Amino acid sequence: MSIIPNGGNKPSVGIGKVTVPELLQRKSLVAGSSNHQKITCLTAYDYAMARLVDEAGVDMLLVGDSLGMVMLGYESTLPVTIEEMLHHTKAVRRGVQRALLVADMPYGTYHGEISEALRNAIRFVKEAGAEAVKVEGGERRLELIARLTEAEIPVMGHVGLTPQSVNAMGGYRVQGKTPDSAEQLLRDARAVEAAGAFAIVLEGIPRELATAITRTVRVPTIGIGAGPDCDGQILVLHDVLGLTFQDAPKFARRYASVGEVISKAVREYCEDVQSGTFPSDAESYHAPDVLKRRKEFPVRR
Ligand code: KIV
Repeated sequence: MSIIPNGGNKPSVGIGKVTVPELLQRKSLVAGSSNHQKITCLTAYDYAMARLVDEAGVDMLLVGDSLGMVMLGYESTLPVTIEEMLHHTKAVRRGVQRALLVADMPYGTYHGEISEALRNAIRFVKEAGAEAVKVEGGERRLELIARLTEAEIPVMGHVGLTPQSVNAMGGYRVQGKTPDSAEQLLRDARAVEAAGAFAIVLEGIPRELATAITRTVRVPTIGIGAGPDCDGQILVLHDVLGLTFQDAPKFARRYASVGEVISKAVREYCEDVQSGTFPSDAESYHAPDVLKRRKEFPVRR
């Protein structure tokens, strides 16, 4: 390529930009060496939050299909459509400069024909500006992940408690607690790696199993409810901020109570409007002096 686009005044690739090769390189650095850095990931679903999270220095932003629950009020991730995911991914894209932007492929967009899954994944890259996609599932996604990777789409795998399988799993349950299911999960992670995924989300599995998988695969593991020994961690932003309406799972550490801040601010605003203290004179526009000096304000009737 003879021309390197700079994306207007927003550098999309440059110093500090997190890339897939850079994340793979981090894994290859010996754990415990001074250069070994854990990978920080959060979800984001809109421009403002994405911008704040990116500017705070998170490495990877996932437009998760959890948006169905935390943004759209669905009971599970299953109803989320590709159009909803594209809409939110585009908004996040506009807010992100440094972090790697990954889009979740929603339920039903990669469960049928591989050619259709490929077309859907390409939409996330071409239309929404995602730099990678995430798909749930282990061994049974081998061919799909290989095809997406061949098409130059970096893929993040996701094994363990995979929310799109809620009906098949019979609820949101920790996975890999029996020797057989733990072995299956190890096989799943290996298959996802062999198919070409650049990272694997490990969700809702015992710490010990996550440690074993992390030691086995050469790509970074990103844990959520999988203990501290993964190569990185991810949480749902609304859990981190305290913006949810039900009890969060025990692994979802809350760092702020933004919901309470919002409720308090809105209550105060309503009180100020009712009492007439908002808006104040200083918060009002004023007519020029020449008009104010007149006895009556001139308005055409
Ligand atoms: O949808 C989502 O937010 C996710 C992460 C929690 C891994 O899949």
